[in-house]
Amino acid sequence: MENFSFLNPTRIIFGKDTHTKAGVYTAEYGKKALLHYGGGSIKRSGLYDQVVQSLKDAGVNFVELGGVQPNPRLSLAQKGIELARAEGVDFILAVGGGSTIDSAKCISIGVPYEGNVWEFYENKAIPEKALGVGVVLTIPAAGSESSDSSVITNEDGLYKIGLSSDAFIPKFAILNPELTYTLPAYQTACGATDMLAHVMERYFTNVRDVDLSDKLCEALMRAIIHNAPLAASNPEDYNVRAEIMWCGTLAHNNLIGMGRIGDWASHHIEHELSATYDMAHGAGLAIVFPAWMKYVYKHDVTRFAQFANKVFGVEYDFWNPENTALEGITRLERFFERLGVPIRLTQAGLADLEANIPLMAQKATRKAPQGQFVKLEAADVEKIYRLAM
Ligand code: NZQ
Ligand code: ZN
Repeated sequence: MENFSFLNPTRIIFGKDTHTKAGVYTAEYGKKALLHYGGGSIKRSGLYDQVVQSLKDAGVNFVELGGVQPNPRLSLAQKGIELARAEGVDFILAVGGGSTIDSAKCISIGVPYEGNVWEFYENKAIPEKALGVGVVLTIPAAGSESSDSSVITNEDGLYKIGLSSDAFIPKFAILNPELTYTLPAYQTACGATDMLAHVMERYFTNVRDVDLSDKLCEALMRAIIHNAPLAASNPEDYNVRAEIMWCGTLAHNNLIGMGRIGDWASHHIEHELSATYDMAHGAGLAIVFPAWMKYVYKHDVTRFAQFANKVFGVEYDFWNPENTALEGITRLERFFERLGVPIRLTQAGLADLEANIPLMAQKATRKAPQGQFVKLEAADVEKIYRLAM
């Protein structure tokens, strides 16, 4: 096991009706809040009105900025930075999913910074100060509600870049599974895919003697695989929604990755897809992850066979563990198909793939080779995109 330092101070407030306390928790951290949200789902569901009422009841002044798109854009975050400065905002309440939360995090480091906030994402500056961020989560997926990351797309050149900093860890996150009843089945599926990917990125490691975190990862993956299809058939089953919501947070609050070195190549390969085609991150991962597995499994057949056996219950073939490993990848693809997410680039209706694949491979590796489990150069990434065709 590797040395590690674990920090996750986000207060998780979980359960029915908890969103009505958004104002009370916001009042603990700020006097004037920026209420930040997405494209309108919270207005349609009535959540917006309830949050506004809760802020008023708690005596919190606020201004608002909606319109965050999936794959959140730098330009809106910059607008948020200007608004927050002009209005003297000292706290940001993000109501929505990973995109809204990531946009809020971007605003939080931009407000106290004199330069262009994009410099942080390009590693030209390190965030030292940030406004606090609180969350009312409406889609379990990205894990941003307690992660140390923010992923932003710069429309100028279509660069989608993730930045990690302790400054990003939200102060609190309100998780009411009832708020996820209105999710379209496709968004539920993309969310489940993303959280499963967050566990798999950490599971495929070269670090030995990580038995406890292996078992935590395996339990999480089994819980996601069991519950995600149930949510599709019964979207208002509270207990199923609750299991998925808690899985999404635990998959990405860093606990299960401690002492290990995660891979993360699939995420970076996917980010080029969602930057270029503006597709849902989870859908891109369902396409990329199995292809990555097929490309790298020979690096450690035993680990892939363990994944197949412990997560999907594939019988272990001691004479030929490669059979077990390959069956695990097949079962993963079947699981994604059952959820209704595409598992091939050609199923996703993407234009100009032939021209874009080499470009995306170059962009994915422009700073360094990708992946810790297996190092991948641009030529490897290109082969992975082609395996995913
Ligand atoms: O914008 P609205 O109208 O709210 O609609 C959203 C959006 O269209 C809708 N939605 C959310 N909650 C809903 C709902 N519709 C009905 N009922 C509800 N309760 O769902 C759509 C997707 O929302 P989004 O916030 O984009 O989803 P997600 O949470 O999957 O976030 C994806 C973003 O997070 C990034 C991804 O790259 C992507 O940009 N990630 C962030 C990470 C982090 N910060 O730690 C890690 C991840 O690996 C990921 O990269
Ligand atoms: Zn992800």
